[in-house]
Amino acid sequence: MLALLSLLSLLPVALTLPLLGFEHARFLGLGDSTDDNSATDTPTALDLASVNATFLKPALFARVAYCSSASITSWSCGAPCQALKNITFLQSGGDEGAIPLYYIAHDGTDNSLVVAHEGTDPKKLLSILNDAQFGLVALNSSRFPDSVGQNITVHDGFQQTFERTADGLLAGVMSGLASTGATKVFVTGHSLGAALATMTGALIKTNVPSSVPVEITGFGLPRGGNEEWANFLDTIGVNFMSNQNDPVPTVPPKFLGFQHSSGEAHIIDPSTPNIVSCPGQDNENCATGNSLLDISIPNHLGPYFNGLSFGGSQCDD
Ligand SMILES: *[C@@H]1O[C@H](CO)[C@@H](O)[C@H](O)[C@H]1NC(C)=O
Ligand SMILES: *[C@@H]1O[C@H](CO)[C@@H](O)[C@H](O)[C@H]1NC(C)=O
Ligand SMILES: *[C@@H]1O[C@H](CO)[C@@H](O)[C@H](O)[C@H]1NC(C)=O
Ligand SMILES: *[C@@H]1O[C@H](CO)[C@@H](O)[C@H](O)[C@H]1NC(C)=O
Repeated sequence: MLALLSLLSLLPVALTLPLLGFEHARFLGLGDSTDDNSATDTPTALDLASVNATFLKPALFARVAYCSSASITSWSCGAPCQALKNITFLQSGGDEGAIPLYYIAHDGTDNSLVVAHEGTDPKKLLSILNDAQFGLVALNSSRFPDSVGQNITVHDGFQQTFERTADGLLAGVMSGLASTGATKVFVTGHSLGAALATMTGALIKTNVPSSVPVEITGFGLPRGGNEEWANFLDTIGVNFMSNQNDPVPTVPPKFLGFQHSSGEAHIIDPSTPNIVSCPGQDNENCATGNSLLDISIPNHLGPYFNGLSFGGSQCDD
């Protein structure tokens, strides 16, 4: 009986390991959650009104980023575009290949600029995350003068990807603010797009006048840097959502020196919905406390809340 039970409990791993590849599972780092820089405070329930207030708009724009560049430019990507009214497309960059797509748009309903980054499929992301050549490297502090002397390191692969579009993206935001008179900036993304959103959001925050609020939001966000980077992001403010047993928010693992910022909202059950706000960094009661036995790649895509999922399948092309 005991043997049967342990076999059954291994079943989810047996089903997901072929997807991830053993080299990935080895680095998942699940179960290494208990250390002294993981928060343990009890999460608090979030009602749907506050989830909507923080996450709905960023989720809808991040979903559009999975559609083709041409259909985003003309704002005709089908349901994901139709869910957002009064939008003026301003700029896109990247190539939908090695350099992930991003776009900048003006939202007339609240006079804001939105920067949204495309993600990548979870298997590709896990291979970037676990690629041995991508360890922690020094943050390019010439882009972040406030970070000098703070010993900040970030994921090499994320920073290299960020660097490929940083100049054009920042120029687009600055000229977009000037041409539209927008009073606020939202930066958002899912998956790899969420990791890029934390870096471009910090870059934008560093460069816009302090009177312009910058809201950075991520979905299925992997860890992007060390504890000093997490603390730096905390001074700017990041909100991110982790869904049930998605393995992506638990990689790269803490034992390799990676740490999440604060600001996690964790989905326990998307249907009710049962979503909690997780105090501190890497709260053990949220994604960081997940067990290797329960990982679910489908949870990375969704649904998150209001039936919202990510990936290109909802786009017209
Ligand atoms: C949250 O947003 C969804 C989608 O727009 C809407 O259907 C729902 O009524 C909202 N709920 C609350 C409590 O604001
Ligand atoms: C649509 O956007 C324009 C500016 O681009 C703004 O003046 C107008 O109030 C917006 N309309 C709605 C319904 O939000
Ligand atoms: C660091 O940022 C500067 C711009 O501030 C850029 O010119 C340079 O290429 C970046 N360095 C690397 C290694 O990406
Ligand atoms: C800088 O950070 C690394 C890990 O990210 C750590 O090992 C090292 O001790 C830190 N150095 C200082 C001076 O804080």
